[in-house]
Amino acid sequence: MKKSSLDKQKNNKIWGGRFSASPSKLMEEFNSSIQFDKILYVEDIEGSIAHSEMLSKQNIISKKEFLSIKSGLERIKKEIYNNQFNFSTKLEDIHMNIENRLVEMIGDSGKKLHTARSRNDQVATDIKLWLRKKIDQIELSLKDLQRTLIEKSETYYDLFMPGYTHLQVGQPVTFGHHLLAYVEMLGRDRGRLLDCRKRMNELPLGSAALAGTSYPIDRHFVANKLGFNKPTENSMDAVSDRDFAIEFMSASSLIAIHLSRLAEELVIWSSDRFDFIRLPEKFTTGSSIMPQKRNPDAAELIRAKPGRIFGNLISLMTVLKGLPMTYGKDMQEDKEPIFDTTRNIELCILNMDGMIKEIKPIPAKMMEALQKGYPTATDLADYLVKNLKIPFREAHHLTGKIVILAETKMTSLEDLTLEDIQSVVPNADLTILEVLKVQYSVSSRTSYGGTAPKNVLKAIKNAKKRFLKG
Ligand code: ARG
Repeated sequence: MKKSSLDKQKNNKIWGGRFSASPSKLMEEFNSSIQFDKILYVEDIEGSIAHSEMLSKQNIISKKEFLSIKSGLERIKKEIYNNQFNFSTKLEDIHMNIENRLVEMIGDSGKKLHTARSRNDQVATDIKLWLRKKIDQIELSLKDLQRTLIEKSETYYDLFMPGYTHLQVGQPVTFGHHLLAYVEMLGRDRGRLLDCRKRMNELPLGSAALAGTSYPIDRHFVANKLGFNKPTENSMDAVSDRDFAIEFMSASSLIAIHLSRLAEELVIWSSDRFDFIRLPEKFTTGSSIMPQKRNPDAAELIRAKPGRIFGNLISLMTVLKGLPMTYGKDMQEDKEPIFDTTRNIELCILNMDGMIKEIKPIPAKMMEALQKGYPTATDLADYLVKNLKIPFREAHHLTGKIVILAETKMTSLEDLTLEDIQSVVPNADLTILEVLKVQYSVSSRTSYGGTAPKNVLKAIKNAKKRFLKG
């Protein structure tokens, strides 16, 4: 039997009118985004309800039609939530799947929903609505992680550990001070997210395909309904803009960088050579062959995630570069990178928070590393400058000699005797022994932002005010 043109049209009930042939199976698979954009269903429905309410307010559709569209869309939301919705690749994406189901459900009124809009402004709106929520959640989880780090630094505000440069012992610091460094990074990360959210918060809907619409729509009303600051200014920019996603992905890349640095420190600190900390068992794994192992897998995954998070950013930037105004199907390639970055950055933050909450430092091991690393050498040089009026460069040189002495005697600077020191600096007196102590070194670092425990306590108070209020 010959297929009627109506049958053929069924291949796409939404745009099939102009077509006499249906897409090839291959093209259908290639073209459809429903596999991944169904995640946007809540926002798609939220946007459609606001749009249809505006259409009715402007007398473009009747109040009755709006109410029937609204209740249909709410039923569809439940169907999808309860896994009772039949998604079809023939209907390409979440927008057409929902619209088609609405027409099935409520008949002709459903066909009016797409008046004065296009999928181009619709999809840009959906992604903004979705990302806005995610940004709020991510920003909050960063705040939680800051709280966890601040609480830990409160417990360990005066626990001494080596501070490193070049991964060589530099000067003693406190564990609390070290953790607060990450609180600052995460604070900047939160600022970047909020900044990007501000710029993102303009409504594209009502820009229609690219040129705006001849219907008497009220875009300010829809913007207000959906919690946007205002409608976008230029219809062409609105449908082709994905800057907001790139900004979000750049901000996420920096978060990923910060978390990967902390993750790497956790890997180093928990290694058997360092043995500075114990990671909670819950965030480590065993080896299938080596029974003694406890591997820091969560930290290693966080260390690795920037790979895909930078990759996603590069991928979207590359899709957009050179794309002529306005929408191109190229832009459908925005979704998977956006979703992937969002999910992975969320996971990294949550896992890091879980680890830090139960991290256990091993003070004796930190102290042992301090003794080996001559971390008070700078204090000794400074002492020679301040007390014996030796020029710094010369003091640096003499201190180097004292370090060699300690090295040959296989002892720490703290354990040298006054005679040892006098063999290099003959006029040194007993007070010099004081500055060789780790305790002295740390407590003397009282400059603003320095590591002295009393500073760390102030910094904690300050950080609570700056980051945890409100
Ligand atoms: N699924 C499409 C996307 O994600 C929706 C917009 C389609 N627009 C169009 N003119 N074909 O980009």
